[in-house]
Amino acid sequence: MAASRSTEPLKTFTADHALADKVEVLYFDAVDFDSHQKFYDELPEKPGIVVYAAGFLKNNEEALQDWAGSYQMMKVHYCGAVSMLNIIATDNKNQLLERIIGLSSLSGVRGRKSNFIYGSTKSAFTQYLAGLRQYLFSRKIQVNVIVAGYIRSKMTAGLDLTESLMLEPEFIARAVVDAKNRLIIVPGIRWKIIYQILRWLPERLVARLP
Ligand SMILES: NC(=O)c1ccc[n+]([C@@H]2O[C@H](COP(=O)([O-])OP(=O)(O)OC[C@H]3O[C@@H](n4cnc5c(N)ncnc54)[C@H](OP(=O)(O)O)[C@@H]3O)[C@@H](O)[C@H]2O)c1
Repeated sequence: MAASRSTEPLKTFTADHALADKVEVLYFDAVDFDSHQKFYDELPEKPGIVVYAAGFLKNNEEALQDWAGSYQMMKVHYCGAVSMLNIIATDNKNQLLERIIGLSSLSGVRGRKSNFIYGSTKSAFTQYLAGLRQYLFSRKIQVNVIVAGYIRSKMTAGLDLTESLMLEPEFIARAVVDAKNRLIIVPGIRWKIIYQILRWLPERLVARLP
């Protein structure tokens, strides 16, 4: 099953990849919280592997002036994820559930002046998944966080990003498919290095970053 607000592009994608008869496309709005329980209850079958990848980006300077944009990032990356994943994670009757994976971001590793609103929503999502992993441990359900760098996608189209650091969506998808039992998965060797540097960099040096 694949679910999103824009079901037509999903149907086109599954048809183009000869998956139309294998993948059911469903309508899902991450920020329509009141619909989530019904959405889950009406699933044709309960999920074994869940990937939460909804995303919305508003430029930091714009988001600082535009509460609606800031709030939308919080709703898509955090509130919607918590609302939906809480329902999935607490369905003890679903014996099929084996893994939950969230697409988070290196932007959530340290607060930086150029992207701390988007970044803080991703940081919250990462921490939620870290705790959910501990909560689900006794049921032997894995939780992974893909901490991604730049991905070539609708979100980054038109942004001036370092080309050599761009990752293709298929590369990220491979990291999702290959996820094993680590909490944090950082796809790409360059981004692994950047992630470690960011984690350990003293605050006074983080302050010099964009
Ligand atoms: N691009 C990057 O450099 C990058 C880096 C690190 C992490 N990420 C994360 O990776 C994930 C995928 O992003 P992407 O780069 O593939 O961007 P994208 O192409 O813009 O994909 C985001 C997806 O989220 C969906 N979405 C947005 N609001 C939604 C809602 N209310 N309900 C349901 N679906 C909703 C969008 O659907 P519509 O088509 O209907 O808008 C779109 O399919 C996001 O969580 C993003 O934060 C991206």
